[in-house]
Amino acid sequence: MKVLVVGGGGREHALIRKIKESKKVDSVACCPGNGGISYDAECYNVSATDIDGVVNLAKEIKADFVVVAPDDPLVAGMVDALNDAGFKTFGPKANAAIIEGSKVFSKDLMLKYNIPTAEYKVFDNPQDVLEYIKEKNEFPTVIKADGLALGKGVIIPESLEEAEKGVKEIMEDKIFGESGNNVVVEEFLTGPEVSVLAFTDGKCVKPMVSSMDHKRALDGDKGLNTGGMGTVSPNPYYTDEVAKECMEKIFIPTIEAMNKEGRTFKGCLYFGLMITPKGPKVIEYNCRFGDPETQVVLPRLKTDIMDIFEAINNETLADLDIEWSDDACTCVIMASGGYPKSYPKGIEITGLESGQLDGVTVYHAGTAIEDGKLVTSGGRVLGVTALGKTLDEALDKSYKAVEKITFEGAHYRKDIGQRALKALDK
Ligand code: AMP
Ligand code: GLY
Repeated sequence: MKVLVVGGGGREHALIRKIKESKKVDSVACCPGNGGISYDAECYNVSATDIDGVVNLAKEIKADFVVVAPDDPLVAGMVDALNDAGFKTFGPKANAAIIEGSKVFSKDLMLKYNIPTAEYKVFDNPQDVLEYIKEKNEFPTVIKADGLALGKGVIIPESLEEAEKGVKEIMEDKIFGESGNNVVVEEFLTGPEVSVLAFTDGKCVKPMVSSMDHKRALDGDKGLNTGGMGTVSPNPYYTDEVAKECMEKIFIPTIEAMNKEGRTFKGCLYFGLMITPKGPKVIEYNCRFGDPETQVVLPRLKTDIMDIFEAINNETLADLDIEWSDDACTCVIMASGGYPKSYPKGIEITGLESGQLDGVTVYHAGTAIEDGKLVTSGGRVLGVTALGKTLDEALDKSYKAVEKITFEGAHYRKDIGQRALKALDK
């Protein structure tokens, strides 16, 4: 098979490495890919959001299977267009991807089908939002832009002044464009967060091993929200008991709810969960593999990933046994100086030469090759990933490798996995 992967970040690099392990796969192509991905796949300069461009590319290279990884093309209907053109795909159609594309949709879905989540109210103008927040007078509160916002559409104001500023930015200045036409205001929940990615063909749901993201830019969960500064798998807060409760109250009900709405979801459904004192609740759904969750989940997958993708396509997932390794896996993101605000590009990266980083896989997120040199080209640059018998062992390997890799201004969190280690100690 020739497999085309749409996207160009660390998640796509991890997917491509796993797809290359498949016995069924002869070659992998990627669009647009990145510097590091170009060592593993033929990269084509077609944007991941260019639906016509991707359909034409799939035709041109005679792809046998297309994996659409990022949220925006999924929400915009790339899978629908590829299916219409006769291609087999992995990823939900637009009418199901809305579960990530609209927070108002997902909150209303959970309310209608009694799926545990934070209490909420929807607003379409800034005056009403602020009046409501003023009246409630409970801080922190949570305000979410309805549409896609690069993972940055959530603000958690500690005061009315902060709420006023945030609402103005989202609804009047439109920093996230049309995504800010409506907002959801919701109850602030507390508890450890768990990410669970799940394969589903719309008939059954098979959760993958759990993981923990570290969303803030700085150590101690300080600083701005980012796309994710590191991950560990498994997540110790996701006990067997919690997993059972999630399956019964969240995972199966979500799949059934989407079917009842005539929006069958096929692909990877991402459950962002909070384990509150009142049980697990959904913080968010994503219609795709998480980034950088994928980088710690897929290395633990033992089953041929193309068998899984084909089973989902054929709606025979229930018949497939999916196996995982018991190892721990850790990913430390090395980011450009300044990220998640503005940052320079084109800075040379050194220390990745082969032989230096035994037992470690470096997934490339924002790299390019310029004049034969590997340089930075994005905010999140590399995901330094290691497997180990224990979380401690994996972390040790990831961080030893991070010390060998350099580019000017690089920053990374030094405390990835510390919260998980503390939970294991208890
Ligand atoms: P999201 O983009 O929806 O995952 O939100 C980003 C982050 O904001 C989450 O990972 C949580 O840490 C936090 N968050 C979102 N919703 C809530 C909530 N209702 N209560 C507390 N924290 C939240
Ligand atoms: N790491 C969070 C996400 O992929 O949305």
